Amino acid sequence: MVQQVAKGITLYSGLLSLGEAFPLIKKYDLFGAGRKIRGNLMRFDVLMNAVILKHEEEKKLGGVRATKDAMDNLLEYSEYRNQTSAEVKLAKKGIKGLFLDLFIRGTDTTSVALEWALAELINHPNTMKMLQNEIDSVVGSTRLVQESDIPSLPYLNAVVKETLRLHLSLPLVFRKCREDCMISGYNISKNSRVVVSIYAINRDPDVWENAIEFIPERFLGNTLNPVDHEDKPDDLKDQNFDYVPFGGGRRGCPGAALATAVLHITLATLVQGFDWKIEGKVNIEEGVGLSAAMSHPLVCYPILRMDPSILLSK
Ligand code: HEM
Repeated sequence: MVQQVAKGITLYSGLLSLGEAFPLIKKYDLFGAGRKIRGNLMRFDVLMNAVILKHEEEKKLGGVRATKDAMDNLLEYSEYRNQTSAEVKLAKKGIKGLFLDLFIRGTDTTSVALEWALAELINHPNTMKMLQNEIDSVVGSTRLVQESDIPSLPYLNAVVKETLRLHLSLPLVFRKCREDCMISGYNISKNSRVVVSIYAINRDPDVWENAIEFIPERFLGNTLNPVDHEDKPDDLKDQNFDYVPFGGGRRGCPGAALATAVLHITLATLVQGFDWKIEGKVNIEEGVGLSAAMSHPLVCYPILRMDPSILLSK
């Protein structure tokens, strides 16, 4: 259910809303996206209320879980803050908002990126072969790839980076101007909401050679790497604003490290264990919605390429 709610909210928040451009008609919610988002939010609220109640009741009955979960900790923290004279309280509404943010931002984004990575690899069989060769030569065929192998797999890293450059799980980021300012010659007044297309930044042909092509090698430091990147640190959250799959600045994605770790290990396991076949070529059109998922979900068939007992041993 959480996944359905997260998907619903991401899909309908990404639909073009005339109300954003013409605030006077916002209340009419012409295409019903607002209604659908509210419906999903209400379902989430009901679910979270039940989870909170269960935790509170368990606590009242003196039940002690072997390990406290995130909800236990947040409820305890909220109780502590509400009992003390802390300036900022943490109400249940805040706890629910925090989980909503984590579920919306943290679930669909990573699965969408993984689907794109596999789709691009299927469409680029040579790249797939090179990646499988790298994994085979570093890991061998007698065990599955592990997290500790990842630093020794630079081509895997390049494939993940190139996927995130071309296929952004969140193509638009939002900011509010705290003061009057000028951006690219345009006067922007205080409190305006500014929408930044990190999709356009990551595909900027002035920066990226063959910008819309899937070429992981550009991240291995060959000539396709933009010249002005050479003296910049290779970090996702630094001052390199030509490559911003996780946004940037203070509001940049706090889940970037987790997402890249999950993408590396999951993709590596999928291509080490299987070849992937489809009928024809993958359609790489993007669908609607905030997370720019594939318009036609990827349907592909796994063909075993290692001893199944090794796969099952994980
Ligand atoms: C491939 C996976 C992911 C991508 C591409 C991605 C991308 C982004 C982007 C572009 C933003 C907006 C940043 C900005 O406004 O500058 C964002 C925000 C956020 N992300 Fe991620 N994200 C991913 C995975 C995750 C995961 C796994 C989590 C948590 C477990 C997460 C949690 C968040 C949160 C909480 C925010 C809001 C931060 C704020 O508003 O201050 N994300 N993400």
